[in-house]
Amino acid sequence: MDRVLSMSRCLVCGVDTPSFLSFGRMPIANGFLEAKDFEREHFFNLDVGFCPACKMVQLTELVERERMFHESYAFFSSTSQRMQTHFKAFAESVRTRYLADVSDPFVVEIGSNDGIMLQNFKGWGVRHLGVEPSANVAAVAQGKGIRTVSSFFDDELAQKILADDGQVSAFMGANVMCHIPYMHAVMSGIKRLLAPRGVLVFEDPYLGDIVEKTSYDQIYDEHAFYFSVGSVEDLVARHELELIDVEAQPVHGGSMRYTIAHRGARPVSPAVEKQRERERELGLERAETYARFRQNVERSRTDLVALLTELKRAGKRVAAYGATSKSTTVTTYCSIGPDLISYISDTTPIKQGKFSPGAHIPVVPHAHFAADRPDYTLLFAWNHAQEILDKERAYREAGGRFILYVPNVHVV
Ligand code: SAH
Ligand code: TMP
Ligand code: ZN
Repeated sequence: MDRVLSMSRCLVCGVDTPSFLSFGRMPIANGFLEAKDFEREHFFNLDVGFCPACKMVQLTELVERERMFHESYAFFSSTSQRMQTHFKAFAESVRTRYLADVSDPFVVEIGSNDGIMLQNFKGWGVRHLGVEPSANVAAVAQGKGIRTVSSFFDDELAQKILADDGQVSAFMGANVMCHIPYMHAVMSGIKRLLAPRGVLVFEDPYLGDIVEKTSYDQIYDEHAFYFSVGSVEDLVARHELELIDVEAQPVHGGSMRYTIAHRGARPVSPAVEKQRERERELGLERAETYARFRQNVERSRTDLVALLTELKRAGKRVAAYGATSKSTTVTTYCSIGPDLISYISDTTPIKQGKFSPGAHIPVVPHAHFAADRPDYTLLFAWNHAQEILDKERAYREAGGRFILYVPNVHVV
């Protein structure tokens, strides 16, 4: 279990891929832990690289998947009300665009978590299967009557699905494809299973947004890839598949939804070329862009540490909100510990009473935050800012301030 897979070859095309940003030693982002386990905490080097050949931005050292996705996985998708609405709309769009003319459609979701997306298909009586390796979250979905297999998706599982259920009308994935470093096994499995007019629709945090907003906290162990339209096109073309549509999504700080079909099976939307053009403007295929990104990341760290240090000096009480996986990159890279942030408020029961990875900041239930009303609250769940700022109106009206660090460090 202790082995870390170190690598500097592009996961997609095998070309030497140098890292452009090193965050140093990092713990498992979702590894909330008890004090008795501090001594045994696992660390790896968080480094991110840019492949000069296929342009894929990716981690250059990986953590074994069983260390991250297991029977006590800490992330439950349905915590956010807004994400429930988002996934209902996602499911509706797949159903109306791609399933309307299919008799007895069959949909498969990779990384289906607690069933936030598939519950919609279940409600419509559509044949479905969720693939979810983290057994505890898969059990929540199963409890809702959503058909879920607790495994990692790969070519072998694809063969089993084909034998049991036949071809797939639509594959879906949200915030999961970027988690899977063995992408060729995934794509060849999908290629094998996809019906002639079937589609793969997936979304992940978008590289263009990460670069533009300096949202470096999207970089952590689970996110092996930081996709762009250019790199996704290259990847799927290696499997005789084709990117037929792209659509920006406002969730998780800026995501991109990619729709893929068998090559030549469906018309390609003009949105694909439009986004390619946008990526040329952003310079996503040039190494200099990432050198500049690194400088922006360093500036963000300097500004955040300066603000927190100043607040401490002024005797302000500072806490944080949302024990996100992303926050592990921030607290570790910026050396923010319990001296600067007294606790993190989070509504997820499995995280409460534990400590944050690396920094060991206590995670407390929301009731603690509501009673304590710190002067300042660092919003680690900045991607849910709208939902949280609305919810915390009373705190803000009583003088409480939120600190955000995306796209730059500021107080609201
Ligand atoms: N789709 C949900 C969950 C995203 S979290 C949402 O957007 O909210 C990522 C999920 O993918 C986790 O539940 C994790 O257990 C799962 N996962 C990780 N690797 C996987 C793999 N190889 N195959 C299928 N699911 C995987
Ligand atoms: P995410 O950014 O990966 O979606 O994680 C959000 C975290 O923030 C998750 O642990 C749940 C927590 N959270 C709250 O505590 N309160 C909230 O209102 C929301 C939306 C999230
Ligand atoms: Zn490459």
